[in-house]
Amino acid sequence: MTFDLDTIRGKFPALTLTDNGIPRVYLDNPAGTQVPQSVVDAMSRHMLETNANVEGPFGNSASATAIVTELRHAMADLLNAASPNEIIFGQNMTTLTMHLSRSISHLLRPGDEIVLTRMEHDGNISPWLLMARDLDLKVRWVPFNTETYQFDDDAFDDVLSEKTKLVCIGAANNLIGTINDVKSIAGKAKAIGAMTFVDAVQSTPHVSIDVQDLGCDFLACSAYKFCGPHQGILWGRHDLLERLDPYKVRPATDEVPGCFETGTPSIEGMAGTTAAVDYFAWIGETMAGDYQGRYPAFEGRRKYVHAAMDCLFGYEATLASHLINGLQQLAGVQVHGITDPDAMDRRVPTVAFTVDGISPELIATELGARNIFVWFGDNYAIEVSRHMGVFDSGGVVRVGPVHYNSKAEVDLALNALSDILPSAAVA
Ligand SMILES: Cc1ncc(COP(=O)(O)O)c(C=O)c1O
Repeated sequence: MTFDLDTIRGKFPALTLTDNGIPRVYLDNPAGTQVPQSVVDAMSRHMLETNANVEGPFGNSASATAIVTELRHAMADLLNAASPNEIIFGQNMTTLTMHLSRSISHLLRPGDEIVLTRMEHDGNISPWLLMARDLDLKVRWVPFNTETYQFDDDAFDDVLSEKTKLVCIGAANNLIGTINDVKSIAGKAKAIGAMTFVDAVQSTPHVSIDVQDLGCDFLACSAYKFCGPHQGILWGRHDLLERLDPYKVRPATDEVPGCFETGTPSIEGMAGTTAAVDYFAWIGETMAGDYQGRYPAFEGRRKYVHAAMDCLFGYEATLASHLINGLQQLAGVQVHGITDPDAMDRRVPTVAFTVDGISPELIATELGARNIFVWFGDNYAIEVSRHMGVFDSGGVVRVGPVHYNSKAEVDLALNALSDILPSAAVA
């Protein structure tokens, strides 16, 4: 079987829901995806049958401990980590990044420099700004080109030096959708002895991630963006994790990776996250046969999830292209992001736009009234919206399809916009 949207949609109970007879159109996915039934089943199975804290001397606890171990393996497959012991769990990406910014700080000295970019969600900015404030570090900013919506080739060369200790970069942006060349940036950082932290929250749902190939040092993501529950995941190179200073309570383990995991984990979240990875593996095994050959060195679930991501990326590119083309036909609409139909491989399908004279909030609210779910504003990408000059005018409207959306749903949004925009402009 090749990619089969109906079969995929059949896995998601939420996609069949209606309100007052009107179907829901979920285009709010960059803020959080819907989940397949298998994710809910895994979570409820744990809560009903194996609910216990971990590491205890009885069967239920052994089952709970096994759920944690299984997710370390599942995430190692999804990210192609060298070992499950490089996988750390926490509440979400932001909490894990705040925590890492504490645990990394003893490697840094006053006057050292860290590199941040204007193309980040604040989860990849504020933790580092706070660390820089506390340790008296210098922050060097990398702008992106507001015409190409990408970094210029030499953008990082201007700021990297022997003083640079850490480079923080988003793999894909949550507002404009640009995919960044993390491998090249991490290579530049490594060449001068700096570490690279990657925010992969918006790339994990769309792109095959291979931390070993990227050559980065840390990478964080969040399962609620890839059809799982609220569960944060941080990958770190094991030898580097061994050198960090975990902020932890005394009775907790001193071993990596558990030493970075504060408090009692969400074991139900972990059960659901493994099911989410297995959902992608199911797509890879049953619908992405043509892509499996791209990963000759991988086996089993690891091969399947990476094949699935490549397969889904191709389909999502067709949705992005259709959406962007439709938006460009509407009077007064400006798409903020890569629009060239031949460059869809440089973006995820998250599309931002503004309309002359009409607030993003009004447009999103009108779409919401038609059961079409989109977000508006800066979506926590305040540097991005400031850099593009849209921050003070209410940000953008953000439309974010994923692989379970159909072209027909994108058309519903476009048709609704063609109704809304002329009347809103007059009002
Ligand atoms: C690119 C990006 N980074 C970080 C975050 C923060 O993730 P979390 O909610 O897991 O803290 C988000 C959330 O939307 C995001 O889109």
